[in-house]
Amino acid sequence: MKDVKRVLVTGGAGFIGSCFARTLRRVRPEAEIVVLDKLTYAGNLQNLKVFEGDPRYRFVHGDIADPAAVADAMEGCDVVLNFAAETHVDRSLHSASEFLDTDVKGVFVLLEEARRVGLTRFVQISTDEVYGQILEGSFRETDPLSPRNPYSAAKCGGDRLAYSFFASYGVPVIVTRASNNYGPYHYPEKLIPLFVTNAIDGLPLPLYGDGRNVRDWLYVEDHARALLFLLERGEPGEVYNVGGGNEIENVEITRRILKLLGRDEALVRMVSDRPGHDRRYALSTGKLRALGWSPAFDFETGLAATVRWYVENEWWWRPIKERDPSFKAWYEKNYGERLKTSAPVG
Ligand code: NAD
Ligand code: DAU
Repeated sequence: MKDVKRVLVTGGAGFIGSCFARTLRRVRPEAEIVVLDKLTYAGNLQNLKVFEGDPRYRFVHGDIADPAAVADAMEGCDVVLNFAAETHVDRSLHSASEFLDTDVKGVFVLLEEARRVGLTRFVQISTDEVYGQILEGSFRETDPLSPRNPYSAAKCGGDRLAYSFFASYGVPVIVTRASNNYGPYHYPEKLIPLFVTNAIDGLPLPLYGDGRNVRDWLYVEDHARALLFLLERGEPGEVYNVGGGNEIENVEITRRILKLLGRDEALVRMVSDRPGHDRRYALSTGKLRALGWSPAFDFETGLAATVRWYVENEWWWRPIKERDPSFKAWYEKNYGERLKTSAPVG
């Protein structure tokens, strides 16, 4: 990785941002790390516990859409990685307003400050969802963007806005589009952590539609390594797909989780589908691999490590699932009716 003095990690209290910050600390012990995070329901300071007492770490509690908070956090930084976002597709289908505020306006505020400060890199963490669904083959970086839900449409706005600041003002922007991440510290509203923790407790696993939608799964530490790699090898103005090369149907993931935990398939409930549910995502990652990056984790190893982590770290997820009223309210809103009219698998 190129010399970095002070790195701003926005959204660093979330799942991927915190993994990136912890990884950066391991490979660059001398780097100063600033985390800017609003601490929404998905932000959790427990994810950053390793930084307690670290003199080269600073946490700024603030919103990326607030210019004053952004100016404070970005002061003296040479590199910014923007992980901050509203990230859950299902929530965006209920209400998209915060998605526009953070995933579009927030990116704009960060870019304006980046322009003023003068950085060596601004990495916008985008998503494979901006391409839309693909039934056969895989998306390349040059393919047209066709997002199909409010989350991915908002992320697409942030993705292209970031690029526009490269093209218009020369801000050294790199855009990355990653596939579905999984691993430790993943907020338990998403498929894998929800199903693992529900299965541990013998609760229903609500599988949408026919359960045959396909995602490409990327172990979160592989994603963090890819971003570090791109800080060195990525070119400003370029887009890079980051995928795990693990395409798998949701129903198969569900079976594997149950097997790893020794639980019965009777826990699976087929529930009504997510509106506009993208059938399949798949990325061509040749551009990144040609530079020399490849994932270290195969899905079997990564899933086993993830399940083990949730079994061994109930202290992390039980307070969210059992004591956070906002999680309970969300669960009831998204699954209450669905589970009443659900069917067993098969
Ligand atoms: P997450 O939901 O776990 O964490 C998001 C973090 O951003 C939280 O700490 C939250 O408090 C913070 N945040 C939200 N709004 C903010 C605001 N206005 N100002 C400051 N902080 C704010 O998300 P994640 O899964 O870690 O995703 C990180 C990034 O990676 C996102 O940009 C997401 O779109 C992208 N991404 C995620 C995946 C995935 O599978 N999880 C895949 C591809 C891309
Ligand atoms: O592809 C990258 C994207 O992956 C990221 O940009 C998003 O931030 C991230 O949340 C993720 O989006 P998905 O919608 O693919 O992830 P989620 O875990 O919500 O769903 C994965 C699949 O599982 C999807 O086909 C929907 C299905 N699903 C999900 C949940 C939560 C279910 O069948 N039941 C569920 O309860």
